[in-house]
Amino acid sequence: MSKIYRPQDKQNYIANADRYEKMKYRRTGKSGLLLPELSLGLWHNFGLNDDFENARNLLKCAFDNGITHFDLANNYGPPYGSAETTFGKILKKDFKKYRNELIISSKAGYDMWPGPYGDFGSKKYLVSSLDDSLKRMNLDYVDIFYHHRPDYETPLEETMVTLDLMVRQGKALYVGISNYQPERAAEAFKILKDLGTPCLIHQPRYSMMDRWVEDGLLDLIEKEGVGAIAFSPLAQGTLTDKYLNGFPEDSRAVKDGRYLKTAQINEKLSKIKKLNTIALERGQSLAQMAIAWILKDQRITSVLIGASKTAQILDSLKAIDNTEFSKEELEKIESVL
Ligand SMILES: NC(=O)c1ccc[n+]([C@@H]2O[C@H](COP(=O)([O-])OP(=O)(O)OC[C@H]3O[C@@H](n4cnc5c(N)ncnc54)[C@H](OP(=O)(O)O)[C@@H]3O)[C@@H](O)[C@H]2O)c1
Repeated sequence: MSKIYRPQDKQNYIANADRYEKMKYRRTGKSGLLLPELSLGLWHNFGLNDDFENARNLLKCAFDNGITHFDLANNYGPPYGSAETTFGKILKKDFKKYRNELIISSKAGYDMWPGPYGDFGSKKYLVSSLDDSLKRMNLDYVDIFYHHRPDYETPLEETMVTLDLMVRQGKALYVGISNYQPERAAEAFKILKDLGTPCLIHQPRYSMMDRWVEDGLLDLIEKEGVGAIAFSPLAQGTLTDKYLNGFPEDSRAVKDGRYLKTAQINEKLSKIKKLNTIALERGQSLAQMAIAWILKDQRITSVLIGASKTAQILDSLKAIDNTEFSKEELEKIESVL
């Protein structure tokens, strides 16, 4: 009997059978959860006006290469919420059968909706926000839910009790915190441990251009058995070769100047050029070296990249082939930084 042709067959995504062969996975602190050395964030390029097919291809390209972790937040877009809506659509179309192979995170803690209950760290805000995120993504649960930034007005106990509640309600499997300084993070870890929901992971910004985590945070997470996922490892594209000869029209700095300014990049250009030379001597692109430089530290569980093109994901993935640095290479990099 001839096979019935269904128009949607062409659209049916079958993940690459070899997707787990190359990627390396690291244990998240002292938990049971393994995360890929590279994870993909949906902060940019998944909003309402971004190209849906491109967004879809980015996720497929990542998953086909063993990137099992996708990171979101309530306010990714623009407009706020739209990255989760886009992700929900792609999940339904392409990834439904792979849900058990995915680690999906979301967050709340920044400005989300008007009024006193749409920002910071109250129970009222976080509970409503996670419910909204689950609806937008069409999920029963997220794998990791984060408090997105510290809130010094709300009692820390209230925020942490809310994270614990989400796990007990089955809406999140694990919880994390992001952007917390070491002292506040230590308090949060203690409260969560006492509640019986240990903090899985901390999500700080970390790159060659922004090294605040080396000042106590990495020591703390190691001591407490908490994982770390480094966001903006390429300093939003600054630590790549893309700005060496000007500002490409399709780059973040030109397309979306909200968080990355051309002036900021100009200031760093001479360092970027020198780092690029060191990367080439290592046989890596600058993006690959910047990622490898973070992964050399075993306290880091995963490096959380962004991408506007599948070619960037494929380039960045090669970072895991060489995360060893000689003493001389490290000294050279230090002298530039
Ligand atoms: N917790 C928090 O507060 C927080 C804050 C920010 C981000 N995050 C998370 O971290 C994720 C990553 O942040 P990010 O997008 O700033 O990360 P990033 O990896 O530092 O920057 C990503 C950008 O770099 C460029 N790029 C990436 N790979 C490249 C390559 N191989 N060669 C050349 N250019 C390359 C692309 O820029 P173009 O667009 O110019 O092509 C891409 O959009 C976010 O999606 C989000 O999940 C969390």
